[in-house]
Amino acid sequence: MSVNKEMKRVSTAMLQAMKERQEKISMLTSYDYSMAKMVDQAGVDVILIGDSAANVFAGYETTLPITLDNMIYHAAAVARGTERAMVLADLPFGSYQGSANEAYNAAVRMMKESGAHALKLEGGLEIIENIKKIIAGGIPVCGHLGLTPQSINKFGNFGVRAKEEQEAAKLIEDALALQEAGCFAIVLEKIPAKLAKTVTEKLAIPTVGIGAGPDCDGQVLVINDMLGMNADFKPKFMRHFANLHEQITTAVANYVAEVKAVQYPNEDEQY
Ligand code: KIV
Repeated sequence: MSVNKEMKRVSTAMLQAMKERQEKISMLTSYDYSMAKMVDQAGVDVILIGDSAANVFAGYETTLPITLDNMIYHAAAVARGTERAMVLADLPFGSYQGSANEAYNAAVRMMKESGAHALKLEGGLEIIENIKKIIAGGIPVCGHLGLTPQSINKFGNFGVRAKEEQEAAKLIEDALALQEAGCFAIVLEKIPAKLAKTVTEKLAIPTVGIGAGPDCDGQVLVINDMLGMNADFKPKFMRHFANLHEQITTAVANYVAEVKAVQYPNEDEQY
């Protein structure tokens, strides 16, 4: 990495400055080199290697099965494809909840082996000591509150979180604790827009929402979903910015037809 490239790279300080000047932060997931390269070139500020790779890449129903080795593989591919965006990697289920030392060791492996610049962990006060240990090691951490898919078996569904007063109060308490612990940002997933606004106003650090309304400091979406690659998945908050499901299936069907009809390759497409 040249000095010049490093100078252009989005940093935690740049995200903080964006909150302060009220410039919205754009974040999207990517899981592979080619997609990350396009997402980076299009100007996204942060590329998240979400453990949603378990769903959209591996076809699992939940994010629980994906391993630290799997996540390192995806994150390293994404890191190789980017020049400007911050590369933020999820630590997967089971790699950081057990103890501060386990969390630190998982974090160090991810940073050393993938080239990511920061890590995202799900949870609040229950894992605060583990987060502090990682941050003490010089690794920037982004929190994740609201719908935390790694705890799906505890909650039992993927519905909106913190609609009740008690859960909302706990979420605010968690957000303040994460800020106090030194997190540089917090993802707020699938919570009422009004609560996301309150949290965003209470915090000095940026919030990045998914299904959390327009008042967060930034927005994040799963790239496969926003590109319309999975025609069946369209929760209320999702906007399809493309219809790749249709475009890809049409392109592939055209290829099949042209191969069968010996129209591909033609005279210009051979040696
Ligand atoms: O894993 C993921 O893609 C995420 C986003 C939904 C924020 O955590």
